[in-house]
Amino acid sequence: MPLSHPEMLQDDCAGVTRAAEVLRAGGLLGLPTETVYGLAADACNAQAVARIFEAKGRPRFNPLIVHVATLDQVADVAELTPEAHALASAFWPGAMTLVLPSRNMVADLVSGGLATLAVRVPAHPLARRVLEEFGGPVAAPSANPSGRVSPTLAQHVADGLGDKLDAILDGGACGVGLESTILAPGAGGVRLLREGGIAREDVARVAGPLVDDLTPGRVEAPGQMERHYATRVPLAMGGAVRPNDVTIGFGATVGDLSLSERGDLVEAAARLFSVMHAADGLAQSRGAARIHVAPIPEVGLGRAINDRLRRAAFDQA
Ligand code: TXA
Ligand code: MG
Repeated sequence: MPLSHPEMLQDDCAGVTRAAEVLRAGGLLGLPTETVYGLAADACNAQAVARIFEAKGRPRFNPLIVHVATLDQVADVAELTPEAHALASAFWPGAMTLVLPSRNMVADLVSGGLATLAVRVPAHPLARRVLEEFGGPVAAPSANPSGRVSPTLAQHVADGLGDKLDAILDGGACGVGLESTILAPGAGGVRLLREGGIAREDVARVAGPLVDDLTPGRVEAPGQMERHYATRVPLAMGGAVRPNDVTIGFGATVGDLSLSERGDLVEAAARLFSVMHAADGLAQSRGAARIHVAPIPEVGLGRAINDRLRRAAFDQA
């Protein structure tokens, strides 16, 4: 019997074993993590890594994040500097990526020829089991077509990338729902390259004040490109609601959908991309011209949420 493409793998031993097999064979795997689903491949297999770029339709070879299960494995692929140690013990496993000096152990294409490597130890139990069973570093950007909304459900991955993947491991909804916070620890302090699942206030409590390095479009962190996370139907932040808008509410502001009815930013982060996908679908089925999002407070995870919304709304308002 021919296998369906992509293979849908369940959250069980057989699913984990098959997922590790797909990676070993140089395949592409939709991998659940606590932030978003990743488009995963063996980081040491250049051809598999090249397929990631092809599947995403990435315009350039933006550097990818490498995922490993343990701190020892981090030290295999990158240099764990003293500055990195405090952050690693505070936030790993978890929604933090560190940009560290590379040991050149993974395919060149992973870091786009940079001397640094972005590394993360994810906390998601299923991701951890796959990484342990596979045993090596796994390169994974978010599993969405380039420029589109990130996936927080296996179904988002299937809808966006479909048969470009070999398999998708279904781990349910991602708990954090925002990509990892990207930090570059150095002698001059910790630079914040991307706001994400760990609030800057929490990082600053461990690392002291952060040096902002969020300039859009920088070569160093192309994921910060201004236009990103785009819904198909234009999205507007705040301002007046128009009669046919599909509305996304927050807190007391009621909408067709809500990020969090109780105005909770952690819940809003976890639901953000799902609600964006759902609003896009609703707007298309209703023939609505716009998605309107209620204002989100600019504190804690609200900053990372607004960052994603601003990029989604860029030149669409
Ligand atoms: O939560 C996440 O980070 C998810 C999950 C799957 O782990 N991954 C993710 O990957 O968001 P992606 O490819 O969508 O974003 C990776 C970001 C990009 O902005 C990239 O430029 C940056 O990491 N990056 C990778 N290597 C870098 C490096 N050496 N220096 C600076 N930025 C780097
Ligand atoms: Mg992404």
